[in-house]
Amino acid sequence: MTGSAPRVVLGVGGGIAAYKVASLLRLLTESGHDVRVVPTGSALQFVGAPTWAALSGHPVHTEVWDDVHEVPHVRIGREADLVVVAPATADLLARAAHGRADDLLTSTLLTVTCPVVMAPAMHTEMWLHPATQANVATLRSRGVVVLEPASGRLTGADTGPGRLPEPEAVFAAATAVLRRGGAAPDLAGVRVVVSAGGTREPLDPVRYLGNRSSGKQGYALAATAAARGADVRLVSSASLPDPAGVRVLRVETAEQLRTAMVEAAADADVVVMAAAVADFRPAAVAEHKIKKSGDPGDSSAPTVELVRNPDVLAELAAHRGVPGQVVVGFAAETGDADGDVLHHGRAKLTRKGCDLLVVNEVGVDRTFGADTNAATLLDRDGGEHPVPLGSKAALADAVWDAVVPRLIPRDTPASGADRPHPLG
Ligand code: CTP
Repeated sequence: MTGSAPRVVLGVGGGIAAYKVASLLRLLTESGHDVRVVPTGSALQFVGAPTWAALSGHPVHTEVWDDVHEVPHVRIGREADLVVVAPATADLLARAAHGRADDLLTSTLLTVTCPVVMAPAMHTEMWLHPATQANVATLRSRGVVVLEPASGRLTGADTGPGRLPEPEAVFAAATAVLRRGGAAPDLAGVRVVVSAGGTREPLDPVRYLGNRSSGKQGYALAATAAARGADVRLVSSASLPDPAGVRVLRVETAEQLRTAMVEAAADADVVVMAAAVADFRPAAVAEHKIKKSGDPGDSSAPTVELVRNPDVLAELAAHRGVPGQVVVGFAAETGDADGDVLHHGRAKLTRKGCDLLVVNEVGVDRTFGADTNAATLLDRDGGEHPVPLGSKAALADAVWDAVVPRLIPRDTPASGADRPHPLG
C-alpha cells in the first residue's frame, strides 16, 4: 500500500443503487481511506458530481478529457490500493470484460494493478442473461472479485437477485480485500458452505431453548471467503444483516440446519461448521403455550424431557460430498480437571473427524457476542497455529489461510502470487 491512508478508487455505475454508494463513500472516508470517486456519465444522472466531491473531498471527473495534462486515468490507477465498483451495471461489466476504455472509469480499470472488487446491481433478467454471466466469468477469471448481488426488492415491484448489497456489507468486503494487501483472491471458484448462529429448539409456540452464540464469527468467515473470491452459501440461525456476495439460507433448529448443510455440502469444496448447534432438543413441542396453574399456592413446574440432536459436523466429515472436501469445525471449550482447552480440542478433532478445528476458550465474558476473538487452529496432521486476539474477520482470514493449502487443485482461475493483472 502507498502512504498511510489506503487509497481507494470508488467507481460508480449508472444505476439507481448509486444513491446507496454515497453511504459507502462515507463509511470509507470516515474509517480513514482516501477515496477518489470516478462516476460514469450515466451515474451522474442519479447522483450529481457535487455530492461525490463534497463527500470525498476531491474533484470528480468522468472523462479522460478533464485535466489531460495529468494523464488522470494512469495517475489514478497507479496510486490506488483498491478499486471498488458499485453499482456495477450490466453495461459496465460488459465494457470492463471487453477491455473498453471509453470513459475515465473503464480506462482506469485498464491501468490498475491493485485488487478490484465489483458489486453488481441490475434487474434480475439482466443479471441472469448469459451475456452478463459470461462477462462476470471473464472478470473473475482475471482475478476481479465480483460479488454476487443480493436478492430482494428491486426498483419496481419485481424481486430477485440483482440488488446492491447494503453499503456496510460492501464496505466489509472492500476492507477485507484491502487487509490482504495486493494478495490474489485465492478462493476464486471455490465453493464454500458456512453455518452460523445458535440454533433454537422450540418448546411451545412462544418459547425455545437457545444459546449465547451471536453468529458473528460465522458471518465473518462467509464475508471474508466472498472477498477472497469464493462462491459462498451461509446457513444461518443468527439475526445479522446478510454479508455482501453471500447466498443466505435461514434456519432455526438443529434438524433444519442439518438438512440444509447436508444438501449444500453435496457439491462444496469446503464446509465450515461455525454454528452453535444445540446437542439436545425438547422431546415434544407443545401445541399450545405451556401455562402455569392459576393457583398461587401451586409451586409445581413441568419437567422438560430432552432428546439428542444429530451431530452435524461428525456426519458431514464422515460422508463428504466431494472427494478432498475440507471440513472445518469449531470448538468452544473451557479447561477443567481432565485437561486444558487444547487437550479437549485435540480429542474433539479426532472424535469429529474434521480436517481443521478452530478452538477457542469460552466463558461468560469471552467470545460470545464480542467483535474480537482469539483461537488456536488445530489440524488433523498435528499442526497447531495460535491466532492472537484480533477482529473476527482477522481470525476468519487465518482460517482461510489454513484451508487454502488443503484444497485439491481444480481448474480454478486464480492461484498464488502470480496473480494476473486484474482486468487482463
Ligand atoms: N456440532 C454439530 N452438531 C452438534 C453439536 C456440535 O455439528 N449437535 C459442531 C459445531 O458446529 C462445532 C463442533 O461441532 O463445529 C463442536 O461443537 P461443540 O459444541 O464444541 O461440541 P459438542 O459436539 O457439542 O461437544 P461437547 O459439547 O460435548 O463438548
